[in-house]
This record gives sequence, structure tokens and C-alpha cells, in this order.
Amino acid sequence: MPNDPKLEPMSASFDITSLSGANVKYTSIPDKMYNVRDTFGLDLDWQVPGYVHDHPNVPDVDPTYKFDPTTTQAILAGFSYNRRVMIQGFHGTGKSSHIEQVAARLKWPCVRINLDSHVSRLDLIGKDVITLREGKQITEYRQGLLPWALQNPVALVFDEYDAGRPDVMFVIQRVLETEGRLTLLDQNMVIRPHPAFRLFATANTIGLGDTSGLYHGTHQINQGQMDRWNIVTKLNYLSPDHEIAVVLAKVPALNTDTGRKDVAAMVQMANLTRAGFKAGDLSTVMSPRTVIAWAENMLIFGDRDQAFRVSFMNRCDDPEWPALNEYYQRCFGVEVV
Ligand SMILES: Nc1ncnc2c1ncn2[C@@H]1O[C@H](COP(=O)(O)OP(=O)(O)OP(=O)(O)O)[C@@H](O)[C@H]1O
Ligand SMILES: [Mg+2]
Repeated sequence: MPNDPKLEPMSASFDITSLSGANVKYTSIPDKMYNVRDTFGLDLDWQVPGYVHDHPNVPDVDPTYKFDPTTTQAILAGFSYNRRVMIQGFHGTGKSSHIEQVAARLKWPCVRINLDSHVSRLDLIGKDVITLREGKQITEYRQGLLPWALQNPVALVFDEYDAGRPDVMFVIQRVLETEGRLTLLDQNMVIRPHPAFRLFATANTIGLGDTSGLYHGTHQINQGQMDRWNIVTKLNYLSPDHEIAVVLAKVPALNTDTGRKDVAAMVQMANLTRAGFKAGDLSTVMSPRTVIAWAENMLIFGDRDQAFRVSFMNRCDDPEWPALNEYYQRCFGVEVV
């Protein structure tokens, strides 16, 4: 990234790019600068740090992945400048996979935790467990994922951040600060974050509760905590061209003249359901994930209409079928119900 003097004070204590490892073969400090234009195809002259060598925790590269410029830029700022980045948006728009795919390309180890309402404080911090050693039962302390991640060069992703329990959220609050050290009370230990530790989160709501009715099980997020996320970016539905490109990249068998026409109409159909949802005609929306599933099911069943029924229509309430039928007719000229 450019050496922007405005950003110096913030990044000074964590300028990992000026550090270098003693062991040249493998280092836990980023040892390579990646060019954003070449690596992500974005129109940006940034250099971002990453690793030369692969590591078992680095996600697999999805070569067909299409990076959304705004989201990718926010994630890259997170990696380069140690910013805490939260991505919010409707389901299935590519929030989790964006972080993973950026990490995959930078070869930065990445661990995802689903913050569902059963993840407890002890799961995150660590707990005493009973184990067998030499035939005897003993209790031993087992470190949780948070202290482990903090001490390693890892991008930790809290998925479904708005579904986490309040007691768990307060544990995370402390490490949200850049220099946030974690105190383990029962271990008399203070953990300093590794210079290459990074923290990301994805959420369907923006922490103000579920205003759409789509996301049962999410909670409001404490605003003191929201305040600690340095960058909050939104990833809602992609432009039709971008979405068509994503589907064709995922299902290359449809990349023919008729296939492309079909996919364009499928994306149009998805956008009609999104407009219908906004207008209150439908109680659910087609996500990009559903469009990909529809395209895949179309190849399995060899029938577009049947694939639509199993991929989306059966998830809608019966009284909504006439509206769906009308949209379908507009896109494909045939009835589906
Ligand atoms: N830009 C993209 N390029 C290629 N594939 C994509 C893209 N965006 C999303 N996908 C695919 O869509 C699917 C859904 O993406 P993902 O799981 O990241 O969504 P999400 O926003 O995290 O959803 P949720 O809110 O439900 O967790 C994945 O299979 C992913 O590979
Ligand atoms: Mg997700």
C-alpha cells in the first residue's frame, strides 16, 4: 500500500511491512508484497503484505472468484493496516467467501468461527477439561480459540456476528482494539496480539436488530462494540452484470449462447424477487447463492423450471406463488406454478 503520511501514526506501532523474520524460509511476519491490480484485478495501485509460503490454515483459492471492488478494498485495508473490518449484507452475497478468498490469495492463514448462540465464553477463552493421562483422570486447562488466534498470524473471522450471545460479545470487545491485550483471569496471563493477527466479522444485520424479518435469531449489538469496528462495509446485491459473471464462473457449462441468455434471465428473476420483497409481495428473497444453486440444479435435472421449484419456489409460502409465477412469466415467457 502507498506510504500515506496521514496513516503513519495509526500504523506506526504495527508496521509489519518493515519487519523481517530471522528465518528466511518460513516467517510468521508477512514476507511478500502483493500487487492489488495483478492479484485481485482491481483498479488500484496498492501493494499489500502477505506470505510467500503456503500454510495448512490458508483457505483454498477459488480461481473463479469475482472480487467486488469496495468490499475487497475494505478487507485489504484490514490486512494491511490492521483495521477491524465488519461486512454487513443480505444472506448469500459473498461476505464470508470474500474474506476467505482475499486471505487465500495473500496466503494469510484464516480461521472462521460461527458465532451462533451456543458458542460460550469458555469455548472462546479456554476451559478446564478432564483427560486421561497414564490411566488417571486429570483436569487440565485447554486454551480456547481466541487466545490461540491472538498469538498467531491468523485472520480470525467471526461469522454471523449478530447471532453471538451478549456475554461472548464482551469477550471480543477487548480484542477489538488494535493493541487489545487479552487478560486470562484464571491463568494470570496477559496475551499480546501477534503483529499479523487480524480480525474480521460478517453479519446480516447492522446491529440494530432484525428490521427486515429475514434474520431470526440475530441480536442487537452493543453500540460501544460497534464503535470499535474501524471499517464497516456493506455487501448487498451485486449489479446484474457482476452477478451473471459470478454464476457463469461458478457453472462454466452454462457459458454458451443459450446458457448466457438463461443466466441473464435467472438473475433478472432474482432481482424481481428482491424488488417484490421490498414491496412486501414476497417474504423471502433469492440470494446469489440461490441463483448459483438454481444453475447447478438445472444441470442436474436438465430442466430449468423443475430446478427453480426445488431451488427457490418450495421455500416460499403458497399464497406467494402467483406473484412468483408472474415474475417467471416476465423473465422466461412460461408459467412455473
Ligand atoms: N463474487 C463472487 N464470486 C464467486 N462466487 C461468489 C461470489 N460471491 C458469492 N459467491 C458464492 O456464493 C456463495 C455464498 O457466498 P457466502 O457464503 O460468502 O455468502 P455470505 O454473504 O457469507 O452469506 P451468509 O450471510 O448467508 O453467511 C458461495 O458459494 C460463494 O462462493
Ligand atoms: Mg457467511
